[in-house]
Amino acid sequence: MKTQLPLGLRGSLLAAALALSACADRQAGTPLESRSGSTVTGTATFSEDGDQVTLTVDVTGASPGAHGAHIHEVGDCSAADASSAGPHWNPFTKVHGAPDAEHHLGDLGNIQISQDGKGTLKLSKAEWTLGDGANTDVVGKALVIHATADDLMTDPAGNSGARQACGVITKQ
Ligand code: CU
Ligand code: ZN
Repeated sequence: MKTQLPLGLRGSLLAAALALSACADRQAGTPLESRSGSTVTGTATFSEDGDQVTLTVDVTGASPGAHGAHIHEVGDCSAADASSAGPHWNPFTKVHGAPDAEHHLGDLGNIQISQDGKGTLKLSKAEWTLGDGANTDVVGKALVIHATADDLMTDPAGNSGARQACGVITKQ
């Protein structure tokens, strides 16, 4: 009897975990790995939030201040300077800018890093989709954190310097 109780408990925990993963199938994200000799790492998570998709980016090891953040077109972070990720993701042929003005679909504005080297960026967009293969699908693109601030004006890349961290967005 003593061994049957933990086994039964394990079974119901497994069922609960399976039910939870079924609910959370509209999620995507990536770890962010250092590039260009930086110490910047982090995570990016996309989740469906009503009729919007909400992105949360958490960064550590960055210099204090504003750092440009974008989704880049090519899901390839293999280059030492992340140049393999290509230009900003721009399926609707827009001009670079702030998320509340005309902008590339991959323009995320800036992430603010505090004195401890950490920062969080939260952004929701109705235009993004998760895993549907449409030209608005964030899956398969690259998320990039830059060395300096995005000026939110200079086309096509906001003049935000080296690519300090990069991750390829996958379905989770
Ligand atoms: Cu970028
Ligand atoms: Zn852009």
